[in-house]
Amino acid sequence: MYGLIKKLLFLMDAERAHYVSMNLLRTACSIAPLRWLISALFTPTDASLKRTVFGLEFRNPVGLGAGFDKNAIYLRELQALGFGSVEIGTVTPLPQSGNEKPRLFRLPSDQALINRMGFNNDGLEAIAERLRQWKKTESNRGPRMIIGGNIGKNKTTPNEDAWSDYEKCFNGLFDVVDYFVVNVSSPNTPGLRELQDKAALKAILQVLVENNKSRPQAKPLLLKIAPDLSEGQLEDIAELSRELQLDGIVSSNTTVSRSALNVQNKSISDRIGAGGLSGQPLKSASDAVVSKLHELTQGNIPIIASGGIFTGEDAKDKLNRGASLVQVWTGFIYEGPGIVKTICKKII
Ligand SMILES: Cc1cc2nc3c(=O)[nH]c(=O)nc-3n(C[C@H](O)[C@H](O)[C@H](O)COP(=O)(O)O)c2cc1C
Repeated sequence: MYGLIKKLLFLMDAERAHYVSMNLLRTACSIAPLRWLISALFTPTDASLKRTVFGLEFRNPVGLGAGFDKNAIYLRELQALGFGSVEIGTVTPLPQSGNEKPRLFRLPSDQALINRMGFNNDGLEAIAERLRQWKKTESNRGPRMIIGGNIGKNKTTPNEDAWSDYEKCFNGLFDVVDYFVVNVSSPNTPGLRELQDKAALKAILQVLVENNKSRPQAKPLLLKIAPDLSEGQLEDIAELSRELQLDGIVSSNTTVSRSALNVQNKSISDRIGAGGLSGQPLKSASDAVVSKLHELTQGNIPIIASGGIFTGEDAKDKLNRGASLVQVWTGFIYEGPGIVKTICKKII
């Protein structure tokens, strides 16, 4: 069934198809019996899938990566599709429209995507309000889906003031998300990835760690990294995570490398231009980073694995390398709405 829907969706511009399909799902989910049916079809219920990670109980280990529901508008629909967690954002203090369209491209023969969205989002205030509404209604709707808040900086904020943008988002979302992810690894905001260097990263994280500690109940604070870091940079990140007692690492974001693409897509990607590559060609780089981080942190810091997860085997591979949870994104586009249940079956 999804095969046919996918063929139709793949005829459309990729970003448009994203909203068309999610809005259709939203219409279906607005009819309660249909929503229950969708939930019954797609939500795995086996109790053995529950995971407690950094103090939070996840109904299953399969989450949806950041950037899919940037504005927290499809939470009810994503909950019906069975996700254990959804990372909203990347949220920036002020709304921004992102890069010029088109900015999302499919490479079907590589089961990949290239995007240069550029943190398009409705901004902190609007997204926090949506999450407040969601929190009011969600509590009486069965097992809870965990919400992560992925935070970033506005394009116009210089790197030396970035800490202030991260802190604004941290404060603004504190009461409405379950955990935070500091995103310094998107390739589509100029200079952002420079914030992964140790001193710059420490300056941002320290502010958030102190802020978190000053609260009656701290929220788990995680860092999301790129798959393109050198071994030295990974060592720095492991050391900093230990020193600041971060609760986890999301590994990884999209890659700027095109080396894993097949020959034909290499030339297509030249025409597409800049952007982050996700999906199958990212898998092995992201696998390697998960293994390396697990080794460097001696398994003491939980890892959420993201990058090229399409099947139960892919997810198990990441878990065997030391991840505690997994996230899908490109795999969801190619495999369809049954992806959570299929992966969970394999994990069981
Ligand atoms: C269109 C698109 C937008 C994304 N936006 C964000 C974002 O705003 N923040 C973020 O941290 N990651 C973002 N990502 C990265 C994903 O969360 C994920 O880490 C990455 O795509 C690798 O996983 P995958 O191979 O399963 O897609 C985005 C990915 C895609 C394809």
